[in-house]
Amino acid sequence: MNYCIANWKMNKTISESINFLEEFKKKDLQNIKSKIILCPSFTSLKILETHVTGTKIELGAQNVHQNKRGAYTGEISVGMLKEIECEWVILGHSERRQYFLEEDVIINDKMNTVIENDLKPILCIGENESQRNKNETFNILESQLTTALSNINLSSNMLIAYEPVWAIGTGLSASFDQIHEVVNWISQFLLQEFSLKVPILYGGSVSAVNCESIISLESVSGFLIGTSALDVNEFSRICSIVNER
Ligand code: PGA
Repeated sequence: MNYCIANWKMNKTISESINFLEEFKKKDLQNIKSKIILCPSFTSLKILETHVTGTKIELGAQNVHQNKRGAYTGEISVGMLKEIECEWVILGHSERRQYFLEEDVIINDKMNTVIENDLKPILCIGENESQRNKNETFNILESQLTTALSNINLSSNMLIAYEPVWAIGTGLSASFDQIHEVVNWISQFLLQEFSLKVPILYGGSVSAVNCESIISLESVSGFLIGTSALDVNEFSRICSIVNER
């Protein structure tokens, strides 16, 4: 099973989200074999639920708080997400790490809360440019994975997205060889350290032009897509290319 996940970040109002989805449903994605997950803003999440009914499209949140309730102004809980039938949650995105100071221990708490409450995490990991230049990529990924996954009742109902920070939103995707090397390393590491076999996605400047070669890699099970998922034509082109694999 391959995955196409749209991470809309802080884009699209409710009406823009509905317009996108209604246009998307007109595309010829009838015999879709891959899983399509839209991760809109919290304000759009509830209303999109009615628009995905009867389709194979699933919904995800871009974040959730690690505690189940309480005095955390501005935050959203797992219970709130479950009530609106949101199934997935993106955790550990590099923008959350960078701008909201989310460290691996917090991501670990969030992973725990999400899994315990039967939501499915999409855990993002990846090195930044200076870490790659210093040959620290595998150390960084090892430490991100080890902390984020420690002491958790892990299930295979989760996804890992390898997203090199230097490739996000830059138009400069990681190369075929770089993705191949890292994704294989991640799958071996998960198997050895956690006896875990889960789909591993790639994210970082994925487009309709580069997705075909990346998805041809055996180890890559789909994409987490930012910029290219904002345009309904581009996103549906990517979905149909992934669907042909
Ligand atoms: P991008 O974003 O596709 O714009 O690089 C990917 C992401 O941040 O998940």
